[in-house]
Amino acid sequence: MAIHSIIIGTGSYLPPKILTNADLEKIVDTSDEWITQRSGIKERHIAADDESTGDMALAAARNAIEAAGISPDEIDGVIVATTTPDRTFPSVAVKVQGELNIPSGLAFDVQAVCTGFVYALTVADNFIKLGQAKRILVIGAEKMSSLVNWEDRTTCVLFADGAGAVILEAKENNDGLDGQGIHSTHLYANGKQRDMLQTTGGVSTTGDNGHIEMQGRDVFKYAVSYMADVVKETLEHNNITADKIDWLVPHQANIRIISATADKLNMSMDKVVVTVDRHGNTSAASIPLALDEAVRDGRIKRGQLLLIEAMGGGLTWGAALVRF
Ligand code: UT7
Repeated sequence: MAIHSIIIGTGSYLPPKILTNADLEKIVDTSDEWITQRSGIKERHIAADDESTGDMALAAARNAIEAAGISPDEIDGVIVATTTPDRTFPSVAVKVQGELNIPSGLAFDVQAVCTGFVYALTVADNFIKLGQAKRILVIGAEKMSSLVNWEDRTTCVLFADGAGAVILEAKENNDGLDGQGIHSTHLYANGKQRDMLQTTGGVSTTGDNGHIEMQGRDVFKYAVSYMADVVKETLEHNNITADKIDWLVPHQANIRIISATADKLNMSMDKVVVTVDRHGNTSAASIPLALDEAVRDGRIKRGQLLLIEAMGGGLTWGAALVRF
């Protein structure tokens, strides 16, 4: 027996405004056919001008707290994965903590771009395993539309907005893989590849946020190979084969990257949660959004084994194995 982090509730929020590929055809020189074939995206949600990452994080958090059936005063930590905070400081996490009347405890943001949620989940899991927190609200929230150069067709058709959240709770549990909770997490970064996917500015350089620029083809190539490596490592670490996985819950950047990972695992796409067609790439929000969708529509059931994986700017990548 040991302390494990159990996901006791999930939640999400998508802004109401939908931007379709047909809408994008009117903004840049692109086509529904190109976007669909190259990325699998058909439409995405875009936040209103006055809707911030923190606002979306709050909505997802409320949703997760309700699903968990707890009260905010039972939470003792808030960790938000985001690259698009409301302000340079304070963090989105303290906004969520303050607005929801969550009592004083740890609250901070984690920035690992599209891998952010896997990083945040890992950090939260470690606090819980060390006994330093009992119940942590972990959120992935992004307003990527505010970082996009709307004249750059190579990126503006891909990124989008939204938020997802989970509540992790400490529970003494069976150590075996049949026990509920996070079984392992695996995080990586290769800083030599940091300019493959980056913004053109920042607080201490240009004094503004800059815009996203990406060497898409290179990022794609590394995404496929890093995902294959980290899922293999996760399976080997837990001494299982891919057929034991009930659901793959991947970061939603590109349907071709997702299918390549499923292929490597010899997994049918029926066991993969896909939202990229409707959500686009919401960076750190994409995994908790996909997780919440599949939990709420009844696909993901209690006791099932989930393989979570992501890759993004840094380059960063990671995976987690979770018994839901
Ligand atoms: O979440 C973080 C990690 N990010 C990712 O994982 C993204 C990884 N990369 C990708 O998903 C893909 O590389 C993209 C979807 C970004 C691009 O697909 P691709 O098959 O790698 O296309 P490409 O960049 O090689 O571009 C092919 C052509 C180019 O034209 P030429 O040079 O062949 O004449 C581009 O200029 O497509 C052109 N192109 C477009 N055409 C129409 C680029 N963007 C567009 C566009 N509409 N929006």
